[in-house]
Amino acid sequence: MEHLLTKISCSTTEEKEKALKELQNVCTQCKACELYKTRTSTVFSDGSASARIMLIGEAPGADEDATGTPFVGRAGQLLNTFLEEAGIDRKKDLYICNTIKCRPPQNRVPTNEEKAACQAYLMGQISIVNPKIILLCGSTAANSFIDQDFKISQIRGKWLNIFENIEVMAIFHPSYLLRNHSLEQGSPRWLMKKDLENIKNKLDEIKSNI
Ligand code: URA
Repeated sequence: MEHLLTKISCSTTEEKEKALKELQNVCTQCKACELYKTRTSTVFSDGSASARIMLIGEAPGADEDATGTPFVGRAGQLLNTFLEEAGIDRKKDLYICNTIKCRPPQNRVPTNEEKAACQAYLMGQISIVNPKIILLCGSTAANSFIDQDFKISQIRGKWLNIFENIEVMAIFHPSYLLRNHSLEQGSPRWLMKKDLENIKNKLDEIKSNI
């Protein structure tokens, strides 16, 4: 099923940065679900407003809640290693955010209510950044956009038709890879490497068409 996006016309990086800052200011004050009571910070984004790839994770963990930046803990560091190996620049090529912006206690999976309360921020980020590629990092992010039941291992690595004019791919979450160390052919880490190579090729193709 295709999701409809509100078109927000920000053509320059400055316009995107301004619109994102305004959205972030609203988000910082948000009390739409109970998570505001336990957060240290709202974790809005990292990377570039004009990035061609948007990576959507699950939710902030302890390190992200403490720093206000997504994917800076152990999972984030492993993600950085995979990105570097694939030649994807986290600061320039990516805009990184999560399905929800506040840390759930004990890092539990976000509830549907929490995701619904945060959805306007995520959809706003997609509309403003207007990426060419969206990476749904892990089951929670993928679940937010795919209605049918699925296993992440079955859908990862395929280009999905979810938004008009945006290439979408689900990939493994680095937390899962922290528990799976094998690099053997067909292992989760091996598949992640292949997926990111594929994504880098798509990025190069997009850049060469501009
Ligand atoms: N896991 C996520 O999904 N997001 C983060 O920001 C950190 C860990």
